Amino acid sequence: MTTAQVVDLDLTGRTALVTGAGSGIGRACAERLAAAGAHVVVVDIDERAAKEVADATGGRAIAADLSDLDAVDALPSEVDVLVNNAGLQVVAPLTEFPADKYTLIQKVMAEAPFRLIRLVLPHMYERGWGRIVNISSVHGLVASPFKAAYVSAKHAVQGLSKVTALEGATHGVTSNCINPGFVRTPLVDKQIADQAAVHGIAESEVISKILLDRAAIKELVEPAEVAELLAYLCSPPARLITGASLTIDCGWTAH
Ligand SMILES: NC(=O)c1ccc[n+]([C@@H]2O[C@H](COP(=O)([O-])OP(=O)(O)OC[C@H]3O[C@@H](n4cnc5c(N)ncnc54)[C@H](O)[C@@H]3O)[C@@H](O)[C@H]2O)c1
Repeated sequence: MTTAQVVDLDLTGRTALVTGAGSGIGRACAERLAAAGAHVVVVDIDERAAKEVADATGGRAIAADLSDLDAVDALPSEVDVLVNNAGLQVVAPLTEFPADKYTLIQKVMAEAPFRLIRLVLPHMYERGWGRIVNISSVHGLVASPFKAAYVSAKHAVQGLSKVTALEGATHGVTSNCINPGFVRTPLVDKQIADQAAVHGIAESEVISKILLDRAAIKELVEPAEVAELLAYLCSPPARLITGASLTIDCGWTAH
C-alpha cells in the first residue's frame, strides 16, 4: 500500500538525524524528511543498509552501534530534527530473560536516545527551533508478557520525552512520542516466529491471535503512515504539540 504525503512540510535548510534508518519505520522517516527538503543523517548498525538509504535520499550514512554510548556521543550535534527510532525486540519469559539482552535493549532504546537528545539540544536551543520525535510503541503505554526489556525501555523513553518537552519549551523545541501498534516491518516479521515458539501456536495464527489480538482494526500499520505522523509533528500547525504520546495503533490502547 502506498501512503500519500499529505502534510505540507518544508524542511529546506534543516538537518535531520534518524537512528535505525536502514530499515522499516526509520527508513520511511528518512525518506519522508528528505522529501520535505531536509538533509538526512542516516544512522544504523547495518552499514550497507545505511548507505543504501543515504544514497536513495541524498543524505549521509553513518554506521554506528547505538549500544556503544561513546559512538553515540560522537554523532553529529548540528541537528534540527532528531528521530530516535532504532530498536530491537527479544521475546522471553522473565524467568528466562537473558540479562545481557536486557542491558543491550536499555542502551539502544533508552540510553542512546538520552545521549542524542543531550547532544543535539544546544544546537536546537541556539537556533530557537527543534523537533524531537521518539518512535516509542503501544508498549510505552501498556505491557505485554514476555517483553520485559522492550516494555521497560519504551516506558523510559516516554518519561525522557516529557522532560525534554518541559525543558525545551522556552527554546522552540518540541518533543513527542509516536506510539504505533504493529507495523509491517522486518522487526515484526522476526517476532512472528519467536511468538509462535513462546505461545506454542502456528506462525499463521500469530498475526490474528497475538499481534492483532488487542487491535480493533485488524490491520498492520504501514511504515509510511508512521512517517506521515512524524511529518505532521514537524510541521507548523503542530508547534504547540509537545510532551504528547500519539498512538497509531488501530485502537489497541482504547481497551
Ligand atoms: N514494527 C512494529 O510493529 C513497531 C511497533 C511499535 C514500535 N516500533 C518501533 O519502531 C522502531 C523501528 O522498528 P522497525 O519495526 O522499523 O524495525 P526494523 O528492524 O525494521 O529496523 C530497526 C533498525 O534499527 C537498527 N538497529 C538495531 N539495533 C541497532 C543498534 N544497536 N545500533 C544502531 N542501529 C540499530 C537495525 O539495523 C534496523 O535497521 C523501533 O524502536 C521499534 O521498537 C515498531
